[in-house]
Amino acid sequence: MLILGIETSCDETAVCIVSATGDKNSPVFSILGNALNSQTKIHEQYGGVFPALAKREHSKNLIPLFKKVLEESGFEKKLTTNNSQQTTREEIKKMLEKEPELLEQFLHYLPTIEKPPIDAIAVTVGPGLEPALWVGINFARALSLAWGIPIIPVNHMEGHIISVLVNRNEISNTQFPISNSKTKDYQPITNNSPVLFPALALLISGGHTELILIESWGKYSNIGQTRDDAVGEAFDKVARMLGLPYPGGPQISALAEISRNNAEQTQTNFKLPRPMLHTKDFDFSFSGLKTAVLYLLKDIGTPTKADRETIAREFEDAVTEVLVTKTKKALERYGAQTLIIGGGVIANTHIRKAFEKMVTEYPDTGLFFPNLALSTDNAVMIACAGYMQHLTKPSESTRTPLVAKGNLSF
Ligand code: KG4
Ligand code: ZN
Repeated sequence: MLILGIETSCDETAVCIVSATGDKNSPVFSILGNALNSQTKIHEQYGGVFPALAKREHSKNLIPLFKKVLEESGFEKKLTTNNSQQTTREEIKKMLEKEPELLEQFLHYLPTIEKPPIDAIAVTVGPGLEPALWVGINFARALSLAWGIPIIPVNHMEGHIISVLVNRNEISNTQFPISNSKTKDYQPITNNSPVLFPALALLISGGHTELILIESWGKYSNIGQTRDDAVGEAFDKVARMLGLPYPGGPQISALAEISRNNAEQTQTNFKLPRPMLHTKDFDFSFSGLKTAVLYLLKDIGTPTKADRETIAREFEDAVTEVLVTKTKKALERYGAQTLIIGGGVIANTHIRKAFEKMVTEYPDTGLFFPNLALSTDNAVMIACAGYMQHLTKPSESTRTPLVAKGNLSF
């Protein structure tokens, strides 16, 4: 099955074409084309994502990225005659009326190419920023109409879970340039063994921190989540306090690493809290930790370079300890056979290593991480999650509706 994946839930516009085969226990994915445009530079000045800007950027960038993946996959076949049908054209105009930039490019480009052999379109419908989500959804609807192929609505967080099933040999550096030099030399463990159930997924991203129990593919239940800030959000806010640019995760991580490598800073002289470390539930809280950093910085007055490094390190240590302790407790409580960790924050090498160490205590439990390049938002995980849905929920009525849902949950 050939799937076009579209992701526009936040500040990454991403499009891909994935070829998927195999059954739900052993799916095989190959990436035929992949393109991504990150808006972080645009949002940097706001210290976070500015929804109206994100929407406009998605609308502007979808067609160029789409064209790029068609070229990359060898599916861009130019037509000599213009084949646009007047009736479809009118409907498409209506569908994309709120995305004028996208509409103009769509009407200009689509009639010039042959319909590629794509079988379905997988698009993120939530959670995320609704204005941003609608751009991807409306683009999918217009393509679906033009080509007469179905749409599979995808939960972004399910995408983060399914991202771990993409074999890392599939990822080439040209498709996913990894800019963060810290993570470049890190070789993650590869896990090509099957996922055994019950499985537990820890999802850590800019908007979410949750523990999901997976009974089988497609059967998810939320057993714990953050009561306030998400981990990625805490990283981003603390980074801002330390004068670092958005997104803050990789920045904090780089500072923390300097402190760990510095012999004089073998022990951090600042102690930060580990919120909800010993509570009986599987919930998290990171807002107090963030506030603790704020007070600490107020106390210090003007932090030195070394102060900032040790604070970054202590913050990263506190987050890691909470994540590992809570996940370990859930692993034992539910007898999970597989631990999956997904979401942007698992691009963090220190957190990865802590989990690799933790699972050595559970030799029967498999640990799955996404390839580093698939940790942060991308369209490949959406296309792959679309394929899994096609296998596990063949009937449309059992799927998520095709409407943007900012707070979509499992
Ligand atoms: O999954 P993602 O790309 O987008 C959402 O769905 O939210 O996650 C983005 C988050 C940001 O908060 C970013 O700071 C964080 O992931 N992140 C990291 C690292 N790389 C990205 N956090 C900690 N360490 C990293 N290396
Ligand atoms: Zn995400």
